[in-house]
Amino acid sequence: MLKETVNSIALNKMKIKPESIEKIENDNGAIIQIDGDNVGIYKDPEGKIYAVKPNCSHLGCLLSWNNLDKTWDCPCHGSRFDYMGRNIYEPGIHDLEVKKI
Ligand code: FES
Repeated sequence: MLKETVNSIALNKMKIKPESIEKIENDNGAIIQIDGDNVGIYKDPEGKIYAVKPNCSHLGCLLSWNNLDKTWDCPCHGSRFDYMGRNIYEPGIHDLEVKKI
């Protein structure tokens, strides 16, 4: 029972996505949709926005935001990218595409 509740809470948290850039707090990141495309947004502590295409440069998996390390992490094979999209951990070797918003 407790395990099911914890799993349910975790799943619900994963489903919650900000609908707009305005809902992302400073020093946080999230994936939002702009014109039907996924866009990875990070707002620095001053509110400056960094936007990337949130697909791994290795084989294209959807990345997730790691707010502890301020990185975009790939759940498939472990590639990591900094908040500006620069590749910092293999197997991905290319940086993420930077998006203009
Ligand atoms: S698809 Fe991201 S590390 Fe392989």
